[in-house]
Amino acid sequence: MSRNLFEIEDNCQLKTYKKFPISIVRGEDVWVWDSEGKRYLDLYGGHAVVATGHCHPDVVSAIQEQASKLLFYSNVVYNDTRALAAEALCRIAPDGLKNAFFINSGAEANENAIKLARKVTGRTEIINFEGSFHGRTIGTLSATGMTKYRESFSPRVGGHLFAPFGDLAAVEALMSDDTAAVMLEPVQSMWGARAAGPDFYKGLRELCDRFGAKLIFDEIQTGMGRTGEFFFSPRHGVTPDIISLAKAIASGVPMGALLVSDEVSSHIGYGDLGTTFGAGPLASAALLATITVIEKYNLLDNVKQQSHYLRERLLENKHVVATHGLGFLAGIEFDREASLFRDYLLKHNIITGTSSVANVLRLLPPLTLQQAEIDQFLKVLAAFQE
Ligand SMILES: Cc1ncc(COP(=O)(O)O)c(C=O)c1O
Repeated sequence: MSRNLFEIEDNCQLKTYKKFPISIVRGEDVWVWDSEGKRYLDLYGGHAVVATGHCHPDVVSAIQEQASKLLFYSNVVYNDTRALAAEALCRIAPDGLKNAFFINSGAEANENAIKLARKVTGRTEIINFEGSFHGRTIGTLSATGMTKYRESFSPRVGGHLFAPFGDLAAVEALMSDDTAAVMLEPVQSMWGARAAGPDFYKGLRELCDRFGAKLIFDEIQTGMGRTGEFFFSPRHGVTPDIISLAKAIASGVPMGALLVSDEVSSHIGYGDLGTTFGAGPLASAALLATITVIEKYNLLDNVKQQSHYLRERLLENKHVVATHGLGFLAGIEFDREASLFRDYLLKHNIITGTSSVANVLRLLPPLTLQQAEIDQFLKVLAAFQE
């Protein structure tokens, strides 16, 4: 590097992220290259974003073609690419959730999910869960169960109540005629990729029906194929009223979306929700190409097969206590601090991430990850030395 680009970024940006000491300049599938030409296996998927792998040629050419035709026009006009992207998303959406609203990020998706629940029910309270993460805006921080993210930003928006994740009785005790919604990540990613048992999700659906409240699944990490299905819902036969999506849905072009039931949709009129950039033509082209690539290359099957293999083989490692999560939302619980493994793997050119649980490392790889690359990771991990 002729100029010190690390220094430039550090000097010009707020120090909000403790960055890995590498500058990534190029990507292809599950691989990225740094500015020195060193290649890394990206098991962090660019932060759970690059579903189709880095720079999938079909996604890149769809974006290039759209960029040369029309970069942007908002929702005040119709657009051919937006129409096709919305149609594709509604086609793969769980039955009963075939109405889409587009925004630009996960936090914005969750903000709008909360707004919808309040508007549709005319109630104010939202039941959230300890250990959850829903975004960095004041509204979504107020719904976030991990206190460390919100303690410097008081006061919270009112009306958010918290129950331990997986504890149905605690949820029931909080429910009332004021409950607008129960909102959760079906797998709590930051909290070590924790899923609950099937009865928990079924019970939440029943409680919401009984109390006339909406069920919101934040599928910003579990959505778009990461669990081996397009969405967590309708796993265990449970379909929520609202799903929020972001991260992987457009393979790295910023985009968020809500999928909502007909009943929720029927309460929404002109001007109730809005956004300038939502479903711009460029993001729409990327969304459409992402869905097409996942289907064309059978990436859901790939996630099911390879994540099964990964999880089985991980348990052979003497430092692995357990694996958590679903598919390629994988939490690896170690017998010591996960950051030791993350740092060691990075030294051996493999990018992974930690979580808010000290001993749990997270893998959020592209859905294209193959067995040979998993074997390479396992081999390096087996040679771990503190
Ligand atoms: C489950 C979940 N919800 C919401 C968000 C917020 O998404 P964004 O950073 O796009 O606002 C994240 C981001 O990590 C997330 O993992």
